[in-house]
Amino acid sequence: MTAYFVSGEEIHLVNKKGKIYRLLLQEGAIFQFSGEKIAHDEIIGKEDGSEIALSRGTRFFVLKPTLAEYTRNMPRGAQVLYAKDLSLIPMWADVYPGATVIEAGIGSGALTLPLLNAVGEKGRVISYEIREDFANRAIKNIESYGKPSPLGDRLKLHREDIYEGIKEDNVDRIVLDLPEPHRVVPHAAQKLRTGGIFLCFLPTVPQIEKVVLALQQERCFEWIETFETLLRPWNVDGRSVRPSLRMVAHSGFITTARRIKRLPVKREVSEKSENPQAIPAHVEGVPETEE
Ligand SMILES: C[S@@+](CC[C@H](N)C(=O)[O-])C[C@H]1O[C@@H](n2cnc3c(N)ncnc32)[C@H](O)[C@@H]1O
Repeated sequence: MTAYFVSGEEIHLVNKKGKIYRLLLQEGAIFQFSGEKIAHDEIIGKEDGSEIALSRGTRFFVLKPTLAEYTRNMPRGAQVLYAKDLSLIPMWADVYPGATVIEAGIGSGALTLPLLNAVGEKGRVISYEIREDFANRAIKNIESYGKPSPLGDRLKLHREDIYEGIKEDNVDRIVLDLPEPHRVVPHAAQKLRTGGIFLCFLPTVPQIEKVVLALQQERCFEWIETFETLLRPWNVDGRSVRPSLRMVAHSGFITTARRIKRLPVKREVSEKSENPQAIPAHVEGVPETEE
């Protein structure tokens, strides 16, 4: 479907070298660049991807920002996640249309946007954030995305400490990007539905050790997995086809776990046993219930 620019949306002007200039389109306003100009009204109504010429002939392509570009360039309070991890998290947390997802903290809202996309019109993202200034920044970023933003209605924000607890019951997914996710694990064990998924993003190994141990201790999580992703751009230019000289060597690790419900322990008395009281409550291979 052809997309046209409207007043009030943020667009990108991109020059020949690929340099991006952000512009908030407003009826009657003028874009100035190195002594040249163009009226915003000349851009409003044009197709996404059109080329424009300024007053002395300098050309730009005008584009709606992709979600990767928007999250990278948007104003931020807290450190944001980038496309490399943002693209993976909804998949590894298996966020599906209609899901209820708990997120913490909202930070600048970069992760909230793909989560909102993934839950679709009938799903919900409920974010916990302790810092008021970050929460306000995140809401602005989310509401300014893809004017008119279709995403705001699906978001609920608690300006609260998630280490103190999760209010909602029976949630489908819990997705965390904060320093001590191990402190959320006991709440996740209570509030995640059976079959639900816990995911956290962490930059360092000691943090992973703590969260994995916490997940193991709850005994209601299985398939606890941790991985790291590396994205290596390539230079493809004529005969020069090789990896780029620069890459982001590290961002963080993703840990996932699945909430399960074990069968109750069977305390069957063995016919061969002379002393049934001696049979241990937990026998290898017989799962215990967590209740
Ligand atoms: C790294 S930032 C999250 C960035 C976010 N994922 C993004 O991409 O924009 C971590 C956020 O967690 C928040 N935070 C830290 N501890 C928290 C807690 N106990 N409860 C709720 N939010 C918390 C911080 O204030 C911060 O905004």
